[in-house]
Amino acid sequence: MFRDIFRPEQMGVYIHWPFCKSRCPYCDFNTYVREDQGFDEALWLEAYIRSLDYYAEKLADDRQVVSIFFGGGTPSLMKPDTVGSIIDHVHKIWRVAEDVEVTLEANPTSVENAKLEGFAKAGVNRLSLGVQSFDDEGLAFLGRQHSVKEAMESLDLARKHFSRYSLDLIYARPEQSLDDWEKELGQALSLGLSHMSLYQLTIAEKTPFYKSMSSGEFVAPGEVEGAEFYHLTQNMMDTAGLSAYEVSNHAIAGQECRHNLVYWHMADYIGIGAGAHGRYMAGGEKYASCDEKKPERWLERVRSYGHGGEWEILSKEEQFYEALLMGARLYDGVSLAHCEDLSGVKASDVLDFSKIDMAAKEGWLEKEDGKIKATREGMLRLNALLGYLLL
Ligand SMILES: C[S@@+](CC[C@H](N)C(=O)[O-])C[C@H]1O[C@@H](n2cnc3c(N)ncnc32)[C@H](O)[C@@H]1O
Ligand code: SF4
Repeated sequence: MFRDIFRPEQMGVYIHWPFCKSRCPYCDFNTYVREDQGFDEALWLEAYIRSLDYYAEKLADDRQVVSIFFGGGTPSLMKPDTVGSIIDHVHKIWRVAEDVEVTLEANPTSVENAKLEGFAKAGVNRLSLGVQSFDDEGLAFLGRQHSVKEAMESLDLARKHFSRYSLDLIYARPEQSLDDWEKELGQALSLGLSHMSLYQLTIAEKTPFYKSMSSGEFVAPGEVEGAEFYHLTQNMMDTAGLSAYEVSNHAIAGQECRHNLVYWHMADYIGIGAGAHGRYMAGGEKYASCDEKKPERWLERVRSYGHGGEWEILSKEEQFYEALLMGARLYDGVSLAHCEDLSGVKASDVLDFSKIDMAAKEGWLEKEDGKIKATREGMLRLNALLGYLLL
C-alpha cells in the first residue's frame, strides 16, 4: 500500500530537533549540544507552532498530512508533551489521514527509555531506534551513550508500546570483520522486526572520525571490502524476507517507512526546525526550502518573521533531476513517466537512452514498464551511474 505514488495534495511534515546529549564522532548531521540549565523547551514549541501556522497559510487548503516525522539530532530528548502539542497542532490546521504515520527517532538510553510510553500516548505510532550496534565495543567505538542492554530494553518497550518500530545499525566499521557483522546482523534479525535501516559507516570531512582516520588511528574498509559488506547484508536480509526497498532500508512488504517514501517519490513535505529542508508546491511553483541551521538564530528568525528559513523555486529541469535522483534509490525503480509528470520535462531531453541501454548490458540497471531499476551492483555506484545517464 505504501508503495503507491502519493496524490498531489498529500504531504509529509518533518520536524527537526537539532540537539543531542553529546556528539558522536562520525556524525555529520545538523546537531548541537546545549546545557540543560536555562534551556526553555516551551520557547521552541512556540516556534514550531508558529512555523506550522506559516505553512498552513502558504499552502493550499486541500492539503492532507500522511506522515509526521520527528528527526534529529535526538528528538527523544524532547518532552512527550512537546511532541504531543506539535502533533495536535498538525491535526488542528490540516486534514490528517486516518492512518497517518507518526515516527520519532529515539536514542536507546535509559533516560529516553523512560519516556517511550509517553511518546506513544502523545500520538507517535512508529519508533525508529538508533541501536547502531549489538556489540558493546562497537558502541564504545562509535561514541554512543548507551549499552547493548539498554538497546534491548528499548526494543522491548518499543514492542510493547508501538504498533510499528524499526532499528538503525551502522556496519563496515573499522576493526569489524565480515564474520562479526554476520553475527551482529543475525542477532538483529532474531528479534523479528519488520523494518531495519542498515547504513555503511561513512566518514565525512570535518568529523572527529575523519581526523582520526587521517592521522592513521584506524583504517576504514575500502571499496572492495565495502561491497562485500553490502552483498552480505543484502543476502542475509533477502533470506530473512526483509529485502531492501531502498539503498539502506529494509522492510517486510507493506512496512516501508512512509515518510521515506514521501522523499523518494518526490511527494511534498515541509521541513521545520534548524537546518530542515522542505519541498512543496504553492501557487503553482515547486519550492525548495531550507531553514536556518543555527538553532538560536532559527528561533529568533521564527519569532521575527513567522518562519525559519529561505527558499528557492525549482526549475523544471531541477525537478526532473531531483525526482530521478530520489526515485533511483528505490529498488522498485523510478518511473520516467512520473519524473516527466512532476516536472513537465521530457526524459529524452535530459537522459541519454543509449547509455541507459549500455548500463543495462553492464548489469547496473534493468528497464521494466517504463522504469529504471538499479540492480544491486548499480546501487553500489548509484551517483556515478546517474551522472553517466544524464545528457
Ligand atoms: C538522524 S541520524 C541519528 C538519529 C539518532 N540521534 C541516533 O543517533 O540514533 C539517523 C541515522 O543515521 C545513521 N548515521 C548517522 N551518521 C552516520 C554515518 N556517518 N555513517 C553511517 N550511518 C550514519 C545512524 O544509523 C543514525 O541512527
Ligand atoms: S548520531 Fe544521533 S546522537 Fe549522535 S550526534 Fe548524530 S544525531 Fe546526535
